[in-house]
Amino acid sequence: MDFAQLMDEFSPFDARLADLDYRNDLYGHARANCPVHRSNALGGFWVVSGYEEIVEVLQDPGTFASGPSVRIPTNPARPTLPPIDSDAPAHRDWRRLLNTFFSPAGLTPHRETIRCIAGDLAESIAEKGQCDLMAEFAEPFSAYITGRVLMGIDDDDRIKEIQRSNHGIAQAHDRAETEANWNRLHAHVEDLYDERVRQPRPDDLVTAITQAEVEGRPVTRDEACSCLMILHLGGLDTVTDAIGSITVRLTEQPDLTELVANPEWMRINLDEFLRLNTPVDHEGRTVTRDVELAGRHLRQGDRVMLMYTCANRDERAFEHADRLDFQRQRNRHLAFGMGPHRCVGSHLARLEIEIGFEELLGRIRDLRITPGDRVTWKVGLSFGPKRVPISYRAQPRR
Ligand code: HEM
Repeated sequence: MDFAQLMDEFSPFDARLADLDYRNDLYGHARANCPVHRSNALGGFWVVSGYEEIVEVLQDPGTFASGPSVRIPTNPARPTLPPIDSDAPAHRDWRRLLNTFFSPAGLTPHRETIRCIAGDLAESIAEKGQCDLMAEFAEPFSAYITGRVLMGIDDDDRIKEIQRSNHGIAQAHDRAETEANWNRLHAHVEDLYDERVRQPRPDDLVTAITQAEVEGRPVTRDEACSCLMILHLGGLDTVTDAIGSITVRLTEQPDLTELVANPEWMRINLDEFLRLNTPVDHEGRTVTRDVELAGRHLRQGDRVMLMYTCANRDERAFEHADRLDFQRQRNRHLAFGMGPHRCVGSHLARLEIEIGFEELLGRIRDLRITPGDRVTWKVGLSFGPKRVPISYRAQPRR
């Protein structure tokens, strides 16, 4: 394969990346030979695939801005989504607001709700003996958490609608379908905003966002709705992908099952799973002044794509990077990013994954890929399995 030529036209949306051997070979070539490389695809952008180079970018948000959008290519019809697409000083205000809710202490009151959601879903699949784990456990799990825990919605039909729209945004086959799903999700967050303005609730994230002040002025309805959009988009596919990838791993290494079922063990070791199978494939930045990165000259206005999935397997940063190693001393992986935009939902994600597996593996064991079926993988912004067809044995109810 002519990797150099493939990198010249690299796009993270290339369907060939769903083949994991192709993906690993191409990313391996990029890290070793061209950690900062110019691709002509998607209007032209710099592919940053080395760990060290990505850290350099993330530590200099003044030169590598998140605004007006971290999406490459940027869709001009879509609004800027704070906090992910914003820069200081507005970004600091948004984070101050969100950090309170998403801190470990802020999430403690929601632990039991998360457990109930996971327990009910595990129960719903247990006796069937086989299912697609993504469609029947992982996707509804994160949708219910986004709906009930973050948005304070009790209506299950409404939550299922959120799940459908989000799935459509992430996995639609054409642009019109993606836009229709985006518009449906946006209409839903506008309804949420209007409801909470009419009837504010105490200790409620949506109410806090409707009442937020950024840069010394109240946020507009559009800004608040954009923040609600990213909270929907950020919390759904990511956790779903992590649960899917870890489940695939369990079918390959069943000896890990007992460990993964133990939330104490997961609390310490989840990072190594996230390093090796990183759910957010990439995010973008925009260069604000001419600058040099790994010997390449970047110009003001250039776009850079930070390949998190790729950098997390960089041998320069992680010994035998292609292997799971729970003994690693330093695991400064980039699965949650780094710097001011480091994932605001990381504590929630950890809680969901730890409790999710505790409940799932409390009800089903001996997970294997259903004979004659196979796992398929996504390409694009998020990296994880599309389908995980598993067969299993139900455990007695606890
Ligand atoms: C395993 C699960 C998750 C992974 C791997 C993940 C990954 C990431 C990454 C890599 C970033 C940095 C983006 C950048 O560099 O521009 C990020 C930011 C963000 N994440 Fe997550 N995320 C996860 C779960 C969640 C959850 C559950 C939420 C809840 C709503 C969430 C909400 C956000 C938001 C709002 C941001 C923007 C933060 C900012 O710009 O200050 N994420 N996430």
